[in-house]
Amino acid sequence: MKTVEQQTLTSFIEPALEHVNDQHLKQAILNALANQEGSLQTIERVFEKIGSANWTESSFKLIFNSWKETHLKMLAIYGLSCRMQRIALEEEGLSADQQKLLLLAGAKNAETSYEDLGLDFDGETHTTLYHNLAESFVPDDSWMLTAYSLPEAKAFKTHVYRNMVVAPDIQTGLFTNMFSEIYNHAEYSIAITAFNRLIDTHYAFTPEEKTKATTYIFAHIEDETELNHFTVVIDALEYYTKAMGTEINYTLAQETFENYLSKLAAVFAALDKKIA
Ligand SMILES: [Fe+2]
Ligand SMILES: [Fe+2]
Repeated sequence: MKTVEQQTLTSFIEPALEHVNDQHLKQAILNALANQEGSLQTIERVFEKIGSANWTESSFKLIFNSWKETHLKMLAIYGLSCRMQRIALEEEGLSADQQKLLLLAGAKNAETSYEDLGLDFDGETHTTLYHNLAESFVPDDSWMLTAYSLPEAKAFKTHVYRNMVVAPDIQTGLFTNMFSEIYNHAEYSIAITAFNRLIDTHYAFTPEEKTKATTYIFAHIEDETELNHFTVVIDALEYYTKAMGTEINYTLAQETFENYLSKLAAVFAALDKKIA
């Protein structure tokens, strides 16, 4: 039984759903969360574990290598925008209105990478911030080596990339990007607690060192960054389906959300077994 104080991923996702006007889409997210309760608990448990002990150097390397594989999807975002843009520019017989809607869909989707690229932050990318986090706990960048990579984490990254860049229905890509944003909003919210606890219990960081370590996580929570990304992908989906004259496929949406969570939980379950 969970105590009231324990943070759950769902407790951060559910309030954010007030931004969703489409009741069917909202229901697809709620159904996916309910059906994947076990996956969510696995992830929550592993974050709790990460925050609870000082890890060996090789455990930290496994943590930072695999967590990175589940984020930083700029390439996939770019690929998905290119797909919509290409239809607008190359498909024959589209009206000017359809072309405009497709280009808007691509542009809205691309908006989810502004922060990652450091557009308003003097070009400081989220990759740099992630490295600052990892290298606050390990002495060098060897955590990026294949030796610290988990097959489940690689599989998850490939799954996300293929959903967004290769899957026959572009809606699969938009659902993947959309869900990852709202999920990330929740995950970073529990991750900040875990890392603050880890630092406060086991490290004597100066305030500057602590800021340097945690800016990657904090950047995603402040100003509701990920929530804004979530809503712009909903806009992209609306533009896309309107341009193509198709309906939103809610069954595909729920299936995509559930797959995302079950494959992600597999990463955390594998990590849990490896770290000591
Ligand atoms: Fe980011
Ligand atoms: Fe984001």
